[in-house]
Amino acid sequence: MPGRLPVRAILVRAAAALAVSLPAASAFAQVAEPTDLVDQQHCMFCHTSDEPFLAPSFHQIAERYRDKPNATTMLVEKLRHGGKAHWGDMAMPLPEDRGGPLSAEDARKLVQWVLSQ
Ligand code: HEC
Repeated sequence: MPGRLPVRAILVRAAAALAVSLPAASAFAQVAEPTDLVDQQHCMFCHTSDEPFLAPSFHQIAERYRDKPNATTMLVEKLRHGGKAHWGDMAMPLPEDRGGPLSAEDARKLVQWVLSQ
């Protein structure tokens, strides 16, 4: 599958580099999927973990925001209340249109899970 390998290769390299430079780092460890929330909000209807589909993949999103200091706050806000598109013309639908209102706490869980991918 073209496109799949290079991303994996980059991630593997990044992970190796990280392991060397930060032996005790566990901040990027895989966060367990909050499955109920993901189902309720239909996240996987548009996103996949590693293949851009109707929306950027969660890997792409994680790569872009992982090291940005205020990214979690910004993304929590965006998941709950929407905002300007950062990837193209298509904005993400609001929670009401995805399956129901989303609390700040639940949005944070989802963002932390996305950024760990
Ligand atoms: C109907 C399709 C759809 C669904 C359902 C959906 N998304 Fe998205 N998502 C998008 C699109 C399109 C974008 C790109 C928007 C943009 O350009 O900022 C996006 C962007 C994002 C971003 C990056 C936002 C940014 O500002 O860069 C995150 C994080 C995200 N989605 C998480 C989720 C999570 C978590 C769920 C489930 C709660 C979800 N999405 C459900 C379509 C969807």
